[in-house]
Amino acid sequence: MILIDGKKAAAELREELRKEVVELKNKHNKVPGLTVILIGDLTPSQIYVRNKEKSAKEVGLKSEVIKYPDSVEEKVILDKIDELNKDDTVSGILVQLPLPKHIDKQKIIEAINPSKDVDGFHPMNVGSLSSGYESSVPCTPLGCYLLVKKIEPNLSGKKAVIIGRSNLNGKPMTQLLLKENCTVTITHSKTKNLKAECLEADILVAAVGIPELVKGDWVKKDAIVIDVGINKTDKGIVGDVAFDEVSKSARALTPVPGGVGPMTIACLLKNTVECFKRSQL
Ligand code: GUN
Repeated sequence: MILIDGKKAAAELREELRKEVVELKNKHNKVPGLTVILIGDLTPSQIYVRNKEKSAKEVGLKSEVIKYPDSVEEKVILDKIDELNKDDTVSGILVQLPLPKHIDKQKIIEAINPSKDVDGFHPMNVGSLSSGYESSVPCTPLGCYLLVKKIEPNLSGKKAVIIGRSNLNGKPMTQLLLKENCTVTITHSKTKNLKAECLEADILVAAVGIPELVKGDWVKKDAIVIDVGINKTDKGIVGDVAFDEVSKSARALTPVPGGVGPMTIACLLKNTVECFKRSQL
């Protein structure tokens, strides 16, 4: 079984980006900039944002985090986004989710200039991805996709099964795999026989948030299995895949932690560099 090392793949991607940022700096006399807006004091969000900032600095990006208290008014955030949209030292804007209840997530996402939307959440980018045009692609599915491609560069004709239909993961992952000529099945909580669907998969992506849902006998022996889950349990953090069982039956599997997670942040940096390059055309 191949243990897919997301930490190593992310370090390699960061190193490529670091070199590219040096070249871009030489060419344009400026570097890509990432601004993250963090509202409130949820611990997981703070940890994510700290990691994003650290990684952004490591590859040489200009990185800024703007923090607001939980009680901040929506208008303050919308005004700040407007200012950042107009600031040409800012290539990418990310508003860390989840947001406090009084702030309308969709309004915030749609306020970000699509050309600076490093999350790929703006409806314009969602539409571009599904139409097959160049766009920012949400970081987690992009990371999953790059990991799959490392194991199997030619995905044409492969059967992919995705568990979970979220805008964040399942739907964009579907688009990425369709572009590669996979036959894609999206499954979800109302799917009738999930095990039977999973047993068809050459590529299985679990992004549903149910601890250890995917069992050893749900997986074909030559399947590539990508575990997007991060679930807190009594045993600690586990994925959506029963790791011990599936590692005995699959061809390749991502661990949790150390699989998809590190790639998500590296892909955010990649999206920031891509936004910068498109803005310099
Ligand atoms: N919170 C957890 N994951 C993400 C992400 O990918 N983007 C944003 N903006 N917030 C998140």
